[in-house]
Amino acid sequence: MKKVKFGLIGCGSIGKVHSRIIKNLSNAEIVAISGRDNKHEDYAKEIGCSYYTDYKQMLENPEINAVTICLPSGAHSQVAIEAARAGKHVMCEKPIATTIELGQAMVDACKENDVNLGVIFQHRFDQPILLLNKAIEEGKLGKLLWGSAETIWYRDEEYFSNPWRGTWEHDGGGALINQSIHYIDLLVHLFGDPKSVSGKCRTLLHKGIEAEDLGVANIEFANETIGTIEGTTVAYPGLYAELSVFGEKGSVIIRNDHLLFYHFEDGKWSEFESILNPIKATALNTSVQVDESSHVRQFEDFVQAILDNREPLVTGEEALKSLKLIKAIYQASDEKREVTI
Ligand SMILES: NC(=O)c1ccc[n+]([C@@H]2O[C@H](COP(=O)([O-])OP(=O)(O)OC[C@H]3O[C@@H](n4cnc5c(N)ncnc54)[C@H](O)[C@@H]3O)[C@@H](O)[C@H]2O)c1
Repeated sequence: MKKVKFGLIGCGSIGKVHSRIIKNLSNAEIVAISGRDNKHEDYAKEIGCSYYTDYKQMLENPEINAVTICLPSGAHSQVAIEAARAGKHVMCEKPIATTIELGQAMVDACKENDVNLGVIFQHRFDQPILLLNKAIEEGKLGKLLWGSAETIWYRDEEYFSNPWRGTWEHDGGGALINQSIHYIDLLVHLFGDPKSVSGKCRTLLHKGIEAEDLGVANIEFANETIGTIEGTTVAYPGLYAELSVFGEKGSVIIRNDHLLFYHFEDGKWSEFESILNPIKATALNTSVQVDESSHVRQFEDFVQAILDNREPLVTGEEALKSLKLIKAIYQASDEKREVTI
């Protein structure tokens, strides 16, 4: 195989981003999209690919080797399983699914059918995160002590007028599973498996939604480091997402996906010096738009993984970790107790 040929399922706000990215990759192609209304058909014509109203028919197209799923979160699992059974590699937007069981079923189906499963967590491919991984590996922070993930955003009523958002059935929850999951995924990626969690979730402002618009939690990881999480869509007009990592020999703060601050016991680090960006890091985060560059890097990895017959960097198993933690926070809040994971 020289090129991975994709079918896109779900052509809403993030689906269009995926189609643009795939179109620009030299070793991938977008062959078809499946959508539900005329405007999606027009979009298929605009980008020069086939159009299906039924994704099941699209899965029968033998030219397609992979699908990318950009449906409301509650629909990810069934479609991914059908795609795997049709022998297609699966890329899926976050969260992997709305329940752990549905996410695990996706992982199992992809394994059974010998296809790759990748889940979009584009922030793992942000430049500051890639370098933070390297800094930790090189021991620049020493032993990690604690970290925090804060997503202090605002979403307005128009955003929640899209009927699947903030519902348990179609979204799996609210601010934690939909918005904050990106930085929660980074926390788990850096600190490892959580051991126990306590937390509180509330619907404070957006009374029209079922799930939380504020979630806070304390985590103990298996390696006995500590994590804190704050995630919200009530912080008008939208402030920041921040990941802070504190170790015995250094501290790093990444805010709005840019490096805000670092301090290492052994002095300046040229790789971090070149990307320090306090101006972008402290700007208000008021937009729902996605910066596509990290999505591009994740797609490059996913496509190359298929061509090289290896696993992608963010697998289904990796994606289940943040889902399990968030579901444990919901349980801890509902049952008013610390939950062991
Ligand atoms: N990685 C990110 O930064 C990011 C950003 C936004 C959304 N997302 C995720 O992407 C997913 C989609 O979010 P969105 O904001 O694009 O939602 P959206 O509502 O804008 O788009 C969903 C699309 O799916 C279509 N659809 C529903 N059922 C379908 C079916 N059976 N066949 C074909 N099309 C169907 C809808 O018509 C709609 O066009 C969610 O899981 C969300 O969490 C990720």
